[in-house]
Amino acid sequence: MLIKIRRPWELKESSVTPEPHFRQRRKLLQAAAAAGVGAAMPAIARVAPPKQGRRLSNVRDSEWGRELEPTDFDDITSYNNFLELGAGKRAPARNADKLRTRPWSIRVNGACEKPGQIDIEDILRKIPQEERIYRFRCVEAWGMIVPWDGFSLGTLLKRFEPTSKARYVAFETLYDPEHLPGQRRNILDWPYREGLRMDEAMHPLTMLVTGVYGMELPAQNGAPLRLIVPWKYGFKSIKSIVGIYFVEKEPATTWAALQPEEYGFYANVNPEVDHPRWSQKYERRIGEGLFARKHKTLKFNGYAEEVAHLYKGMDLRKFY
Ligand code: MTE
Repeated sequence: MLIKIRRPWELKESSVTPEPHFRQRRKLLQAAAAAGVGAAMPAIARVAPPKQGRRLSNVRDSEWGRELEPTDFDDITSYNNFLELGAGKRAPARNADKLRTRPWSIRVNGACEKPGQIDIEDILRKIPQEERIYRFRCVEAWGMIVPWDGFSLGTLLKRFEPTSKARYVAFETLYDPEHLPGQRRNILDWPYREGLRMDEAMHPLTMLVTGVYGMELPAQNGAPLRLIVPWKYGFKSIKSIVGIYFVEKEPATTWAALQPEEYGFYANVNPEVDHPRWSQKYERRIGEGLFARKHKTLKFNGYAEEVAHLYKGMDLRKFY
């Protein structure tokens, strides 16, 4: 992401930040410490793997990422950011049973001809097989290689017939403070929200994910349906989606609303531009240990050939 012009450590933040913003920033730092958003990741201690769920049918490998060695299932499912299920990387796996994933439906409305509601079982059953589940090794921004199973978001969006006013797509996570322990804490403006520009949303690499390693998605990874945008930082990939809205204006997104100087709407992986508090040139891979050689971060997470054209003519330091 982008470097700020004024570095935050040059001035005491309380002396330069208006009070409400200052309080919000403290909230951000709490949340960011919990989430480790974008930071270099330490090696992790293993915790017991979650109970494996239903095996998905019709999984086939896609062409994408065949050359990449995937991260262990245990690491993918025990080192998570899912603030609704608690702060700290191991809390989501521990609290996974708090997320009730059935019945589950997703509202789709806004600027479209056929607004409606779709049940997760219908999504799993009705997405035509040829468009459906495929295994997709995705380099996640915080250093995991995950064989996600899913289908292109565009496949679903088209069914609702977006109109020409649909310039962006907004997403919303379940709001259920009674069951989700994190939502009883005031660390974010719940529910978690994300958004994409329409062309980003319709790009075939943008996926709705229902599984990992051929298994139904565990709760801590965002069951029953989450987004994966492989060329963006991990926080864009919103979990446990209940709402998808076609909108005309750029929608507010959780991290950009909380700290706009550090987290932008686009959030494209960009090693050329430092985050205000850390370099983004190298990344650690989860599971390889603290002393392993770091990997060079690739622009657009290695998908430049596929997606760079979406940002042609845009100043990526400004639109970070
Ligand atoms: N979605 C929701 N609803 N709540 C969250 O806290 N965290 C985000 C993203 N999606 C988050 C979320 C962040 S910061 C990251 S890095 C990824 O989920 C982590 O996904 P993973 O746990 O499957 O690796």
